[in-house]
Amino acid sequence: MRAVRRPGKGRMVGIPGDFQETGEKSGDRKRSTVVRSLDEGRVGQSLLILYGSNAGTCRYLAEDLETTARDRGFNPEVKTMDEGTEQLSKDVPVVIITPSYEGKPADNAKKFVAWLEAGKPDSLKEVRFAVFGSGNSEWMNTFHRIPKLVDEMMPKLGAKRLIQSKFVDVKEDPTGPWEDWRDELLAFFSGGPQSVIATTAELEVTVKKPETADVLAGEEILTGLVKENKQIAGSEVGSAKRHIEIELPEGVTYEPGDYLAVLPTNPPDIIRRVASRFGLNMDDIVTVKGTSKGFLTTGGPSTVVEILGARVELGTIASKRQIEAIAKAAEGSEQQKLRDLASSEDTFVKEVIDKRMSVLDLLEDHPSAKLSFAAYLDMLRPLTLRQYSISSSPLATLSERSELASLTYDVHSAPARSGNGRLFQGVASTYLATRAVGSRIRCFVRHSNTGFHLPNNPSTPIIMIAAGTGVAPMRGFIQQRACIAANNRNALGPALLYFGCRDYESDFLYADELREWETLGAVQVRPAFSRRGPPNADGKTECKYTHERMWEEREEIRDLFRKGAKVYVCGSASKLAKSTNEVTKRIWRTAFPEKTEEDAEQWLEGIREVRYVSDVFD
Ligand SMILES: Cc1cc2nc3c(=O)[nH]c(=O)nc-3n(C[C@H](O)[C@H](O)[C@H](O)COP(=O)(O)OP(=O)(O)OC[C@H]3O[C@@H](n4cnc5c(N)ncnc54)[C@H](O)[C@@H]3O)c2cc1C
Ligand SMILES: Cc1cc2nc3c(=O)[nH]c(=O)nc-3n(C[C@H](O)[C@H](O)[C@H](O)COP(=O)(O)O)c2cc1C
Repeated sequence: MRAVRRPGKGRMVGIPGDFQETGEKSGDRKRSTVVRSLDEGRVGQSLLILYGSNAGTCRYLAEDLETTARDRGFNPEVKTMDEGTEQLSKDVPVVIITPSYEGKPADNAKKFVAWLEAGKPDSLKEVRFAVFGSGNSEWMNTFHRIPKLVDEMMPKLGAKRLIQSKFVDVKEDPTGPWEDWRDELLAFFSGGPQSVIATTAELEVTVKKPETADVLAGEEILTGLVKENKQIAGSEVGSAKRHIEIELPEGVTYEPGDYLAVLPTNPPDIIRRVASRFGLNMDDIVTVKGTSKGFLTTGGPSTVVEILGARVELGTIASKRQIEAIAKAAEGSEQQKLRDLASSEDTFVKEVIDKRMSVLDLLEDHPSAKLSFAAYLDMLRPLTLRQYSISSSPLATLSERSELASLTYDVHSAPARSGNGRLFQGVASTYLATRAVGSRIRCFVRHSNTGFHLPNNPSTPIIMIAAGTGVAPMRGFIQQRACIAANNRNALGPALLYFGCRDYESDFLYADELREWETLGAVQVRPAFSRRGPPNADGKTECKYTHERMWEEREEIRDLFRKGAKVYVCGSASKLAKSTNEVTKRIWRTAFPEKTEEDAEQWLEGIREVRYVSDVFD
C-alpha cells in the first residue's frame, strides 16, 4: 500500500514582506516588532522547535512542525523548552509551543520561563522567534498566561517576532488554526506560498501477515498492577463510577493530591470499526515508512491491533483539511456533502465540532471515499496519556513493600454525538474499566505542582468542595488524615467536605467509608443532593448544591477561614469551580460589606494557589 502526501497543497496564508494577523486583533501589537525581511528564507534553513507539554498536545504539535518542516526542506530540531534554556542564538530561529497549567508553565518548561523572566534587556538581541500557545478558556483568569508571557518577554529581551503569535482554545477547533499558522510560518521562510517546495516525501505503508510486534513504550512509563477494580455507582443518574487500586512499582511514591498518568489503549470496538472500514484483519502486520513520525514507526512492523490500539487517537475531531482530503477521495453526491461540511465555519462547527465527527465517522458515513489506509494513518495524532487524581493516601499501605494508589473515575460511555447508532466510549476510562485484577497498566505518578496538597501542619483547618468523581483527591486527603487520627486524633484541625451528588442512594460515593472517617474525626461530611436527598437530611434545610449549603453555613466557613483554613475545589470547571468561586466571594463580602465585587475578585485571585486551590477536570 502506498500513498503520496502533498503537504504543500494546503491553504497558505503567508505573504512575503507583509504583516499577517493570525492570533490577535488588529492593533493589539506593535507592528515594528515583526520581522519584515524575508531575505533569510531559504531551503536548508535550521529551525529550533521548543515545546512545553504535560499531556502531549504541544509535544505533538512540535513533532508535527518538525515533520512538515523537514518535508519542505528545512533542518528542524525539537527540544523541550527546558532543554532549550540558554540555547537561543541569532543564527537559528526558534519556535516556542506552549500550554499553561493553572497559569504556570508545563513541567518541562519551568526552567525556560524562569530564565526568560530573569533575562536582561538585549540578552536575546537578534534572536528571531514565533510563539504558538494552546490553552483552555475554562481557565478564564489564566487563559494562555504562559504563551502570552513568553510572547511578551522575548521582545523585551531584544528578540524579533517572525510572524504574529497564535493562541488557540482547545475547547474549539485547535487543529485548523494550527495547520494554518504552521504553514504561514514555513511559507514565511520559503518566500511565500508560491515558492513552497513541493514535497518529495512519500508515506509508504505495507501490510503483510503476522510477525512478532514490538511494543511501543515511553521511557518514563512504569507498570502498575491492578489489585482491585469495582463499580461504586451505577449509571442511573449519570456516568457509572468506579474505584481501581493499582500497586505501584517498588520505590515509586506519591502524596495525596498527586496524579496518576495512564497510557491507555483504544477500546476494541473502535479498532474493529477502523479495520472493517479498511478491510484489514486484526493480525495483519503494518509497516510504516517514509515519515519521521516516531509514534508510527518506532518498534518496526506491528499488527493492526497494536498500531490502532496503542499508538494513535482514533476519536479526534476531523479538521477542515482532512474533510477536504476525504471529499477528494469520495464520489458523486457524497463528495459534495463532504465539501459542504468544510465550506462554512457555521456548518463546520454545527456538523463536525459539536457532533465530534472523527475521520472514521466521516469515512463510515461516506462509503464512496476511497481513502488509503496510509493516508488515514497520516491524519492521526499520537495516543495521549490521561491524568487521574490519586484518591488514596500512601499512609494506608505504609507497611507494604509497594505503595497502592487508587483512582476514582467516571466511565464515559454514551450514544455518540456523531449519530448513526454509534457508541461513544472514552479511551482511558474504558481501558481502566476493563482491566481485570492482575492485569498491568502503563502509568506513572505526576506530582501536583499547583499547591493541591495538604497543609504541612495537620492542625490547619481545611475546607474541601467536590462534585462527583471530583471527590477523588479529597478521599486521599481524608484517608491520610484518618491514618494520622488513628495515632493522634488531637493532631487534626477541622476538615469540612462539601460533596455534590445527585441521589443519596445512587452516587453518594464512599458514603460508608466517609461515615467511618467522620467518627475518627478526620472529616465532617456536608453532602448536597441535586435530585434526591435522604429523608430528614440531618435536620438541615435541604440544599441541592454545594454552593447553597456553603452559603447556609457561611459563618462556620468564615470562622475557619479566619483560623487559616485552606480551601480545595475539585470537579467541573464550568459548574462547580464557577459556583464555588462566586459563593466564596459572597461569603467574604459578608465580612466586608463595603467591598465591591471587583474587590472580592481581587481578593480571591490573591489567595489562589496558596489558600484557595482548585483542580478541575474539564
Ligand atoms: C488533572 C486532572 C485530573 C483528573 N482526575 C480525574 C479523576 O480523578 N477522575 C476522573 O474520572 N477523571 C479525571 N480527569 C479526567 C480524565 O483525565 C479524562 O479526561 C477522562 O477520564 C476522559 O478520558 P477518556 O480517555 O475516557 O475520554 P476521551 O476518549 O478522551 O474522550 C473525551 C472526549 O469525548 C467527548 N465526548 C463526551 N461524550 C461524548 C459523546 N457522547 N459523543 C462523542 N464525544 C463525546 C468529550 O467532550 C471529551 O472531549 C482528570 C483530568 C485532569 C486534567
Ligand atoms: C490541570 C490543568 C490546568 C490548566 N490550566 C490552564 C491555564 O491556566 N490556562 C490555560 O490557558 N489553559 C490551561 N489548561 C489547558 C491546557 O493548557 C491545554 O489543554 C493545553 O493544550 C495542554 O497542552 P499539553 O497537552 O501539551 O500539556 C489547563 C489544563 C489542565 C489539565
